[in-house]
Amino acid sequence: MPWDLVTLNSGYVMPSIAYGTWTLGNGQGPIDQIAQAFDTNYYHIDTAQGYGNEGEVGIALHESGLSRGDVFITTKYSGYDGLDIPTAIRNSVNNIDTPYVDLYLIHNPRLAVPDIPTAWAEMEKVVEDGLAKSIGVSNFGVKDLEILLASAKIKPAANQILLHPYVYMQQAPIVKYAAEHDIVIEAYSALQPLTKEPSGPLDAPLNEIATRLGATTDQVLLAWTKAKGAIIVTTSSKKTRLEGYQDAGDIELSKEDIAAIDAAGALGERRIATRIGLRKFGIWVLVGVVILGLCSYFGLRVDR
Ligand SMILES: NC(=O)c1ccc[n+]([C@@H]2O[C@H](COP(=O)([O-])OP(=O)(O)OC[C@H]3O[C@@H](n4cnc5c(N)ncnc54)[C@H](OP(=O)(O)O)[C@@H]3O)[C@@H](O)[C@H]2O)c1
Repeated sequence: MPWDLVTLNSGYVMPSIAYGTWTLGNGQGPIDQIAQAFDTNYYHIDTAQGYGNEGEVGIALHESGLSRGDVFITTKYSGYDGLDIPTAIRNSVNNIDTPYVDLYLIHNPRLAVPDIPTAWAEMEKVVEDGLAKSIGVSNFGVKDLEILLASAKIKPAANQILLHPYVYMQQAPIVKYAAEHDIVIEAYSALQPLTKEPSGPLDAPLNEIATRLGATTDQVLLAWTKAKGAIIVTTSSKKTRLEGYQDAGDIELSKEDIAAIDAAGALGERRIATRIGLRKFGIWVLVGVVILGLCSYFGLRVDR
């Protein structure tokens, strides 16, 4: 198998590539898509309270004929409907129609209310109650994890974060911190340089490496993400692409390839930061001009 199992700090094992259901919506569509994922050997499904399709995950699993133990299911506390963690996890396992989920994550640190230690204690209770085998977090930074670990009885098994070459510089500290504390990093939106930021500095090295290795650029991005030690959480509506992602598990990038992607990613990251900064500056200039215009229109002076 190209993508190995990883052992979490909870002692449970997790497939190192996951099929995500965020963009699938609900109804028959996601059931068919998840069935296609099972057919292409994805046995780790990543869903969330907020994705609205936990029920479809359960139906697809039931219809697949796979047993519960064959599939690793992650869901997340997304803070929807004003529900607290104890209520939300019970709803999630009922929706999926399973006695437990394999991994339960706090979707974002801002959902850890009233504070991270209190919310984490509720997550630990989820494990004690047998509703999740492992617990973790998502979109947590170093400071968030420091607060969490200061009072945790159970360490988070994973932190699911945005990770691709155009955000690697800003995410490197949390990747390092997680490795030091035996917390697995799960990378979502690893293909964003292709889907949201095409025609950037990564194009040249990705195309060169892909051509040389007889691979596709999405496969090279997944191989880079794996080389950074992260688990992949991806998705596709297309069977051929899902098969390609599986094959990407066999791609070994050289140190030079990784360095070339890192360098192009860092260049793109700086350009994106400049673009965002200029956009914000432009908005502030516009707001200033409007305010001055209004003051002048109403005959107000702004020098007192
Ligand atoms: N924890 C969080 O806050 C969080 C946030 C975002 C996502 N996630 C999880 O991560 C999963 C994946 O997120 P994502 O969709 O952003 O991941 P992604 O892996 O970056 O993107 C997957 C998408 O890329 C497209 N794609 C693949 N190769 C391509 C190529 N060569 N050219 C153009 N498009 C290509 C696919 O489209 P096709 O369908 O056309 O193949 C697919 O829709 C989600 O479903 C969710 O489970 C978690």
